[in-house]
Amino acid sequence: MSSLAVIGMQWGDEGKGKVVDLLSEIAHHTARAQGGNNAGHTVIVQGTEYRFHLIPSGILYPHTKCYIGGGTVIDPPSLLAEIEGLKKHGLAYEKRLFISLYAHIVMPYHRLIDRLVEEAKGSAAVGTTGRGIGPCYVDKVNRCGIRLADLLSVETFQAKLDSVLALKNRELQGMFGHAPLEAKEIYEEYCAYAEQLRPFAAPIEEMLYEAGKKGDKILFEGAQGSLLDVTFGTYPFVTSSCTLAGGVSSGLGIGPTQVRGTVGVTKAYTTRVGNGPFPTELQGDELSLFPDHAEAREIGVTTGRKRRIGWIDLFMLRHTICLNGVDSLAMMKLDILDHLEEIQLCVGYKINGRTIRSFPATIEELQRIEPVYETVPGWKTSTREISLYNELPAHAKRYLKRIEQVLDVPISLISVGPERHQTIWMERFFE
Ligand code: GDP
Ligand code: IMO
Ligand code: MG
Repeated sequence: MSSLAVIGMQWGDEGKGKVVDLLSEIAHHTARAQGGNNAGHTVIVQGTEYRFHLIPSGILYPHTKCYIGGGTVIDPPSLLAEIEGLKKHGLAYEKRLFISLYAHIVMPYHRLIDRLVEEAKGSAAVGTTGRGIGPCYVDKVNRCGIRLADLLSVETFQAKLDSVLALKNRELQGMFGHAPLEAKEIYEEYCAYAEQLRPFAAPIEEMLYEAGKKGDKILFEGAQGSLLDVTFGTYPFVTSSCTLAGGVSSGLGIGPTQVRGTVGVTKAYTTRVGNGPFPTELQGDELSLFPDHAEAREIGVTTGRKRRIGWIDLFMLRHTICLNGVDSLAMMKLDILDHLEEIQLCVGYKINGRTIRSFPATIEELQRIEPVYETVPGWKTSTREISLYNELPAHAKRYLKRIEQVLDVPISLISVGPERHQTIWMERFFE
């Protein structure tokens, strides 16, 4: 298979960064199609922690070329800080990191409006990352956004900024009673960013097309998760882009047939950060089963928020597998269940005692879900140093088999720790 999309099957933070890093060893190219610095992908290599927000995790291997697609939104100071981080780690990025001219730029008013809208929503707030992602996509769709191509052309940028800022200041003053923003300050700050970003701007759509024609191996790194998709996620508690495998094609400007396969990344349990329904979320005494968020690596890397934790939800995974056309699953963080006496798997949903067949489209229904659980025994032994499937404890194998059986999709990779070697390959699926 010459190209593969790596897509989150839950509400994000499934471990996509680790999977992309593992597969990048044999990839020629890695590309991001959507989202912005709301994403946080952590990769650990021999004790060194790398945190990425927009730069594809493939950057850690010196032979890969990395692309940030037209469907993304770029916050220049954040991306430049990330590039600075590469420098500090001694990672080469010249002629390896390319940004689409079509990507939209996150502006200071986007971050401000994100915060003001969340405050105004009160208890109905989405719990966004506050990075201005939603307001930036709003402007894109409303045809008043500023793209990298616009930022790089001094006159276009000035004209666009003047006209959009006039609108934004009316919104800020009229709706939120906020002081207007100064065009001159923003213009000067962003012109400086433009010069720093200019060397990375490239016709990546053509570059990826040519790479595909040559038969190069291309990885597409998903951001967020399927249930945060703006159309099919748990709306309105979602992000503002298409997070599904289908979004790879439109976000990178490549034909759908160029995405040859999809690996769905899921944790052996479920997490969510931010607000919104979560049917299998742990309640009451169950919370003490996962006492240490830091130890479980369940503190968000973008906002430092503790992630909400729950049991694996196979009814939901069946739904996201369907939305993405997944070929196989990467089952992450099995080791986090190592200490448990018993484990629950959600295999169905009921509302008012009645079994439902399809994943609900409304949060009102999702808030009323009664999960149907199967309880299986835990294995109560560390899996962290196991590299062969046969060496896993019998109860761990039984847990994984049950998941495969319910979902009818094979597990191709099992992850038992954050490091590269803490991986059990069931199948070498990108060779
Ligand atoms: P992403 O957003 O999907 O890339 O996931 P994140 O990087 O935000 O969150 C996953 C966290 O779990 C990171 O801190 C990873 O280092 C860590 N991680 C990934 N796989 C494993 C695993 O199998 N076991 C453990 N214990 N940690 C893991
Ligand atoms: P990665 O790529 C987990 C969540 C936010 C919030 C909602 C909307 O690391 O998996 P936004 O700022 O996007 O408007 O917030 O989406 N969210 C994520 N949750 N992982 C992410 O990315 C996320 N990106 C956004 O917490 O609930
Ligand atoms: Mg993350």
